[in-house]
Amino acid sequence: MYNKIDLREVPAERLKEISLDLVNIDAQAPEFEPNRQFYFMAKARDYVKRKSAELGRPMTFFTQTFGCQMNARDSEKLLGILEKIGYQETTDEHADFVLYNTCTVRENANLRVYGRLGYLNTMKKKNPHMMIALCGCMMQEPEVVEKIKKSYRFVDIIFGTHNIFKLAELLCMRFEEKKMVVDIWKDTDRIVEDLPTERKYSFKSGVNIMFGCNNFCSYCIVPYVRGRERSRKPEDIIAEIKRLVADGVVEVMLLGQNVNSYGKNLEQPVTFAELLRQVNEIPGLERIRFMTSHPKDLSDDLIEAMRDCDKVCRHLHLPLQSGSSQILKVMNRRYTKEQYLELVEKIRKAVPDIALTTDIIVGFPGETEEDFEETMDVVRRVRYDSAFTFIYSKRTGTPAAKMENQVPEDVVKARFDRLLAEVQKISSEVCGRDVHTVQKVLVEELDDHVEGYVTGRMSNNTVVHFPGNADLIGKIVDVYLEESKGFYYMGKQA
Ligand code: SAH
Ligand code: SF4
Ligand code: F3S
Repeated sequence: MYNKIDLREVPAERLKEISLDLVNIDAQAPEFEPNRQFYFMAKARDYVKRKSAELGRPMTFFTQTFGCQMNARDSEKLLGILEKIGYQETTDEHADFVLYNTCTVRENANLRVYGRLGYLNTMKKKNPHMMIALCGCMMQEPEVVEKIKKSYRFVDIIFGTHNIFKLAELLCMRFEEKKMVVDIWKDTDRIVEDLPTERKYSFKSGVNIMFGCNNFCSYCIVPYVRGRERSRKPEDIIAEIKRLVADGVVEVMLLGQNVNSYGKNLEQPVTFAELLRQVNEIPGLERIRFMTSHPKDLSDDLIEAMRDCDKVCRHLHLPLQSGSSQILKVMNRRYTKEQYLELVEKIRKAVPDIALTTDIIVGFPGETEEDFEETMDVVRRVRYDSAFTFIYSKRTGTPAAKMENQVPEDVVKARFDRLLAEVQKISSEVCGRDVHTVQKVLVEELDDHVEGYVTGRMSNNTVVHFPGNADLIGKIVDVYLEESKGFYYMGKQA
C-alpha cells in the first residue's frame, strides 16, 4: 500500500499533475485555494466512481450556457472541474448532472431558463439519480433564488458568479446533505487561479483579464450580478496564454466587461494597451481579440497599440447603445454622439481596414423619434460590419427601471424593425469589401451545410467557407475570396 497524497502539502502549481485517485480524501480538506478544490474534486470523484459501479454505467453531465463570452469561459472552467471528477459529457439533458449557467441581462434570458426548468422536472422524475444545478448571473438576484426555492424545489445546487471555482465542494455538500445547497456571494475581491479548464475549441480560447464592472450604465444589471471591477495580474494572464499556446492555441480572446479600464485597480497599475503589447510578444500566438471596449475609456495609446501589434485582429466591437447624446447621458455612458463619431474616425485613420461592430438598445425610457433618428444617423455614418440590436428590457434594481417615461411596446417594435433593416442593408454592403483578395483564415470547423467544406474566420471576424477537410481545423491558411454572400464569403485555398 503506497502513501496517499495529502493535498495540504502540495504546491499549487503541481496540483494539475497529480492523479486525483491518489489523493488522501480521509485527510482534512486544505483551507487554502486552489488545493481545497482539488481535494473536493478527488472526493467527488470517489463518489462518482462508486455510484457508477453501482449503476454499471458511467455517470454523465450536461451543461448549457446562456449569455455572453464571460459566461462561456466560466462554463469551460466548470466543465474542467466536472471532467476531473469523472463525469462524462453528453449532448442533452438525459444526464445525471445538469448545469445551467444563466444570464439575466434581458428578461428573455430569464424566461428561457424557467421554461427549461419545467422540462427538467419531468426528466428528473424519470431519473432519480439526476441532479440539477443553476449558476451564473441570474442567481445573483435574490428574487430569483427565492422563486426557485419556492417553486422549483427539485433544483439541487444554486451558486453565483463569484464562486464558480467551488463547484466540486458544493457537489460534495449535496452528496452528503441530501437537500438543496445554496451558496451565493454578494461580491468578492478574490480571483482563484490554477483550476482545471476544458476548452471548447483546441485552437482558440477566451482568457479573462478582468472580472466585474464599475460603470453602472443605468439600464444594465451586470455590475449588480458580477460585482466590482477586478483585474488579473499581467503575469498571471501571460503565463496562462503561454500555457494555452503550448497546448495548441493560436487565437485568444481577452475578456472583460470593459477591457479598456483593465489594470487600474492593480497594485502596480498597467494599462490595457501595455497588456496588449505584452501579449503580442508571446511566441507561437497568432491572433489576439478582445471584448468589450467601452468608448469612454478607449485611449489614443490603445489605438496605437492596435495599429502596431501585428497579432491584434482587425476588428473592434465598440458598443454605441444610442446615437442620441441626450439618451446617452441618461444611460450614464459618459460620451456624446460627437465623441463617439470622432473616436471612430481616429480608429479608422490608424487602422483603415478595421471592421467595426456594435451593440444598440432601442426603446430606452424617454427615447423620442428624434433620439431614435440620431441612432439611425450614427449607423449610416459609421457603417458597421454588424450590429447586435436589442429591445430595451427593464431590469429590476437598475436606475432605468424606475424611470416613468417608458416607451410603448408598439413604438419600440416599429423602431427596432427599422433599425434592423438598416443595419442589415449596410452590413451586406460593407462585408463584401475584400472580395477577390487573398486573406488569412483560421479554420474553425467542418462546414455545417456543405460536405467537403470548412468554415473559418478572417482577422476582421468575417466568416469564410471553402473546400477543405478536418486536417485544416486550427490552422491559418491563405484563402482567395471568390464570392461575397453579404455576411460571409465563399472561397478557395490560395
Ligand atoms: N460590457 C459590455 C456589454 C455587456 S451586456 C459593454 O459595456 O458594452 C451586452 C449588451 O447587452 C450591451 O452592450 C447592451 O447593448 C445590451 N443590454 C444590456 N442591458 C440591457 C437591457 N436592460 N436591455 C436591453 N439590452 C441590454
Ligand atoms: Fe453593463 Fe455598462 Fe458595464 Fe457594459 S459597461 S457591463 S453595459 S454597466
Ligand atoms: Fe448575461 Fe451575465 Fe454576461 S448577465 S451578458 S451572462 S455578464
